[in-house]
Amino acid sequence: MTARILDGKAISQQIQQELALEVVRLREQTGVTPKLVAVLTGDDPASQVYVRNKERACQRVGMQGVVHRLPAETSQAELLALVGKLNADAAVHGILVQLPLPRGLDATPILDGIDPAKDVDCFHPQNVGLLAQGRPRFLPCTPHGVQQILFRSGLPTAGKRVVIVGRSDIVGKPLALLLAARTSPFGPEYANATVTLAHSRTPELAEVTRGAEIVVAAAGQPELVTGEMLTPGATVIDVGVNRVGDKLVGDVEFASASRVAGAITPVPGGVGPLTIAMLLGNTLTAARLAAGL
Ligand code: GUN
Repeated sequence: MTARILDGKAISQQIQQELALEVVRLREQTGVTPKLVAVLTGDDPASQVYVRNKERACQRVGMQGVVHRLPAETSQAELLALVGKLNADAAVHGILVQLPLPRGLDATPILDGIDPAKDVDCFHPQNVGLLAQGRPRFLPCTPHGVQQILFRSGLPTAGKRVVIVGRSDIVGKPLALLLAARTSPFGPEYANATVTLAHSRTPELAEVTRGAEIVVAAAGQPELVTGEMLTPGATVIDVGVNRVGDKLVGDVEFASASRVAGAITPVPGGVGPLTIAMLLGNTLTAARLAAGL
């Protein structure tokens, strides 16, 4: 068997076209243009690329995208002060502090300092709590992107066994909440999964993943999930982005997995492009909420 390739780039472009229309509609209704501010501290090369991509994506859909670039020597107090200034600026709808922060800076108090109504990453404890209770304000970008790929590929999750490999606060944990929920923005067919949250200390990981109809790899370990860990026909979603030498590889060994899976996302061009589209969607949501819509 050769797996169907799930083209995240094409799905993301489709969503961005839809968002562009909604941005025009919001402007006509309210005069407001959604504005996202990203804060980039230090000179991590990957972060520089990510932030530039976010800025460009904003412009593509007609939103304002602004990047504040701060030196690696920035103090905790200076970064907190910038967040406070952005919180107070009514023209700013979304604030994103790019991670990882340089050594010496503590991310938690900075992220906790973002106004929850502008927290388009959905990292603030208030937004995580609302999500856990099934009444989200924002949806976390990468987990929502995974759900979008499944929905737009016609791969429902209700009644399915989903194994998520990786328990991070950014992907694994919130994705488990989304897929185990009673319903989703796409209706109940794209929630109601039986979710197993596996991780680096899960014994017999291959046995666990072999029991799944949908496997999501989000452990941050290059090519951790191989074809022999899958049941034939499984859907495989690869959230990993690992630089190995000069190559970008996922958390799935694509060559072996794509011979066993029924459908699979590539790296690059799978989940990554969706994360940005979902960030734009949250910025639109934040602008709408700020306008009282
Ligand atoms: N660094 C890598 N991914 C992310 C993300 O989704 N949000 C933020 N703020 N930083 C990141």
